[in-house]
Amino acid sequence: MLYFPDPDARPLYPELLMYKEKILNILRASHTEFVSGEELARKCGISRTMVWKHIKALEREGFGIEAVPSRGYRITNEPDTLRLSDIKQGLRTKVVGKEIHLYPEVASTNTLAMEMAAQGATEGAVVISEMQTGGKGRLGRKWLSPKGNLYLSVILRPDIPIYKAPLITLMGAVAVASAVRAACEVEAAIKWPNDIYLSGKKVGGLLTEMSAEQDRIRHVVLGIGLDVNMKLDALPDDIQLLTTTLAVETGKRANRTALLRQVLIQLERWYEAFLRNDADVLNEWERLNMTLGNRVAVSGHGGTLEGRAQAIDGEGRLIIKLDDGTSRTVAAGDVTILKS
Ligand code: BTN
Repeated sequence: MLYFPDPDARPLYPELLMYKEKILNILRASHTEFVSGEELARKCGISRTMVWKHIKALEREGFGIEAVPSRGYRITNEPDTLRLSDIKQGLRTKVVGKEIHLYPEVASTNTLAMEMAAQGATEGAVVISEMQTGGKGRLGRKWLSPKGNLYLSVILRPDIPIYKAPLITLMGAVAVASAVRAACEVEAAIKWPNDIYLSGKKVGGLLTEMSAEQDRIRHVVLGIGLDVNMKLDALPDDIQLLTTTLAVETGKRANRTALLRQVLIQLERWYEAFLRNDADVLNEWERLNMTLGNRVAVSGHGGTLEGRAQAIDGEGRLIIKLDDGTSRTVAAGDVTILKS
């Protein structure tokens, strides 16, 4: 079923796409070696003119391809563009990412995923966009979404009581922090409730939206934004100071496709764990968190509280011990970690 025009989901001539991908795979496998047009034509079972046309199509996608008469073709540059076939290559998840909708630009992947979910989209369907014009953050804020990062939303249909829904965001934070650690070899941490931090700065965030009946969840959309390769000066000065990117932290451009695949793999792993026993997710959240044990200021609708972050409860709320010895439980807000 096609919900929205998706340029990658249903190519007009799938067999043409297949040859282009095959040529790309052969060229990638040969690394810096040239592959002759004749060899490409033979391996694909098409004419050399058709090979040339596919090479031109790859160039239009941003690939740098050197063509030398009597030697053939080789790739000189890979574009930093997400491609559906690359994302799916080697992705062996059963639920998350079984259906992927990839767009060059949308208002908000969360908004689109909520619409798709309302129309019956399958559990695990993922909406990805190269950029967003109306990205949404927590507490009604905007999420600036220039090119070069990751913006995705996953549709989930968990059969759990509504009061446990906030745990889905914590589960997502565990999955994203684990994926960043695995793909980029950096010590990503979680700041309550669901900010992803590196070297004391924010590198990602999660926004969960839900549709529910009286006592039943219809669907949840888990939105993830990760700052990967964008230039920090794409952000206003005040946000720049508090933000980092994976490229800045590692000193090199990150492979967004590999990172995205890892996010989908970790989401599947932690979603399964969550449905089996949510305590396992809470334990992992505690292991990856940077909030508990610190003096914090929590600002929210009811003003600001200051105290020591003690624990999270079974619904993912933060328990703070105030200086007068009493404890408060907070369900939503912004945490600043103070020097103790
Ligand atoms: C936060 O405020 O920290 C949460 C940010 C969540 C941003 C992501 S980007 C993909 C998805 N689509 C949106 O509009 N928001 C989320």
